[in-house]
Amino acid sequence: MSFLPLPEKVNVLLVGSGGREHALAWRIRQSPHLGKLWVDNNANAGLLALGTACPEEFTLKRKYYLERWMAQEKIGFIVIGPEGPLADGMVDALATPDRPVFGPTRAAARLEWDKAYAKTIMRQTSIPTAEGRVLTTLSAALAYVTERDEPCVVKATGLCAGKGVTVCKDKDEAAIAVRKCMESKEFGDAGSSVVIEERLEGQEVSVLALVDGRTITLLDTCQDHKQVGEGDTGPNTGGMGAFCPTPLMSDADLQLIARDVFVPAVDGLRRQGIEFRGVLFVGLMLTHAGPKVLEFNCRFGDPETQVLMARFQGDLLKTLWLTATGRLEEAEFDFDPRVACSVIVCSDGYPGPIEKGRVITGLLPLDSGGAESDQWMFQASTKLEKRKKIVTTGGRVVGATCLGKTLAQASALATNLAGSVKFEGAFFRSDIGHRILRRRQIKA
Ligand code: AMP
Ligand code: GLY
Repeated sequence: MSFLPLPEKVNVLLVGSGGREHALAWRIRQSPHLGKLWVDNNANAGLLALGTACPEEFTLKRKYYLERWMAQEKIGFIVIGPEGPLADGMVDALATPDRPVFGPTRAAARLEWDKAYAKTIMRQTSIPTAEGRVLTTLSAALAYVTERDEPCVVKATGLCAGKGVTVCKDKDEAAIAVRKCMESKEFGDAGSSVVIEERLEGQEVSVLALVDGRTITLLDTCQDHKQVGEGDTGPNTGGMGAFCPTPLMSDADLQLIARDVFVPAVDGLRRQGIEFRGVLFVGLMLTHAGPKVLEFNCRFGDPETQVLMARFQGDLLKTLWLTATGRLEEAEFDFDPRVACSVIVCSDGYPGPIEKGRVITGLLPLDSGGAESDQWMFQASTKLEKRKKIVTTGGRVVGATCLGKTLAQASALATNLAGSVKFEGAFFRSDIGHRILRRRQIKA
């Protein structure tokens, strides 16, 4: 696959159906190398406006059919958005010498789908992270949380769509979290073992890098607000809003993260004979004792991708192709100097159960190239119904994303834009970026 030249035109299949994919699809559409863009069979309404839906569900169970379909449609490049297909080994199964796939193999993606493995790699390569242990039986895990005095965090080791982590304030909460994973099996097999680690304090930063096996290119840093309520209160969600870049990390800080986290992680995998190609996403906590790794993801983040794509300047399709084929050093791209902020409009009840099928109005279509805008609505849980009606299908519905000269301006614009998305029970946070905007305020 190495050094495969990018054809003048290539038909692309984008796997995944959320806000991340909507933002990626929009930038891919702007590439002069794009032939036809195919999107997921269950693509949201935003994606369907940018590409054609694959006629069948895109899962490996249908590999035989999909291979025939891809040959017929001359699919030349596959881009995988979500972690599920990566963990299932979609890259291993579909990459061929003349059809690259963007994303890591199942073995490389294990950094995300097995938190115990990630902890082992971090320990072996001295990557700074929370002190913790992997427990594989209920009795050992309960004994461990009761003998600890410090507050801890309980994590199911497998993939749980962002729901397998409980930040606990005391032993009782920790024991409940352990039982949820290992006794009532709320996360199925994903919770049959747990990582229990020290609870860290600080601000969280998301650092994403493109990696082609050898070259690592860091993207601009983002911050994501995980908690559902204003002022960072309430339960964790998949992300209520994000901004990019964050002033908390200088170029010098980023160089240290590259040296202390990205290089050892990629090298650590290589020593096991595993090459990482795709996006490596590091969730960091900036603690008083320095930055520590909370998690690795092996894909673009959401909503981080919405703010990254708002600022991305260059040919995204070419950049992803060069990453997938081992020539990342040839990629040329930059970021708009302005700040991007995204505010996620959600359905009431989220992150708990929500009602689907509510009619959405006020959506802005994305321009697919040509004149640049500075505000976008990236759609996540939306569906196109008859007579062009668009309805909700999940908790996080739309990412209202804006560019501004400052974070304060971008956040105000995105909050205002979020307010123009209308459906029954819509809500959003109006304080995205507040910890940065108020960081110089000291209470006397
Ligand atoms: P993870 O999927 O491991 O990133 O965890 C999800 C979220 O839980 C993170 O984004 C943090 O907000 C929180 N979290 C995870 N690990 C810790 C930790 N050791 N200390 C404090 N908060 C954590
Ligand atoms: N925003 C965090 C994630 O994508 O996992």
